[in-house]
Amino acid sequence: MSEDPEIKVASYAKKKGQIVMRPHEYDGIQEYDQTLPNWWLFIFYGAILFFPLCWLAYYQFGMMRPDGERVAVQMAQIEKVKAKALDEMLAKLDDKVLINKWAKDDQTVANGRETFMANCTACHGQNLSARMDIGNGQSVPLPGLSLIDGQWKYGSHPMDIFKLINAGTPPDSAGNNGAKMEAWGLKMAPIKIVELVSFIIRQNPKDFPEAQN
Ligand code: HEC
Repeated sequence: MSEDPEIKVASYAKKKGQIVMRPHEYDGIQEYDQTLPNWWLFIFYGAILFFPLCWLAYYQFGMMRPDGERVAVQMAQIEKVKAKALDEMLAKLDDKVLINKWAKDDQTVANGRETFMANCTACHGQNLSARMDIGNGQSVPLPGLSLIDGQWKYGSHPMDIFKLINAGTPPDSAGNNGAKMEAWGLKMAPIKIVELVSFIIRQNPKDFPEAQN
């Protein structure tokens, strides 16, 4: 093997810190023969290392998520807890329990009255008649249905009333002259709706005589 004088020169020059060119040249284009500076290599290998670390942190450990994604995950958890609470309540609830247990409990009915006065009177009226007194013995109708007229558009069983308040006007219903009720279950815990139903039951002695005490 014959020795290439260029190579000897190149390694000598490199040791001396001088710039060395590769021996070839194409169309006047030449190439440096230098080791890359450490700062450059550091960034290069650092970038290679950076990728698996990020991949692990972001995809495997769920770190560094943007706020929107974190909120979505937490909302999904809240929805799960709410759905579970509703399932648990529905599992121990039926018409008889609502009438004989909940509606007979004065504290439950009082809680229901409080929730009703705070959330429902705008459309169903202070006295549940869906009318508002405007003085001089006159009254005007409100958007909701009367809850004391003995007519139950979506079913007269306590569970029907529970489900209607929880889920609002069914999607396939045209509502009351176009007015639909929202799903209160989105805002209220199941126990709140139990209290509301208990209150409504107690306001209807004719429909629910066994609930009065
Ligand atoms: C923004 C107005 C509005 C508010 C506030 C409102 N409702 Fe309603 N509610 C309605 C309307 C409108 C209907 C009739 C919906 C339909 O016909 O589909 C209705 C229907 C009902 C019915 C069914 C009555 C029947 O005859 O079957 C019940 C029960 C009821 N609401 C309870 C409540 C309770 C409890 C609250 C408070 C948590 C409440 N509503 C708050 C507008 C309202």
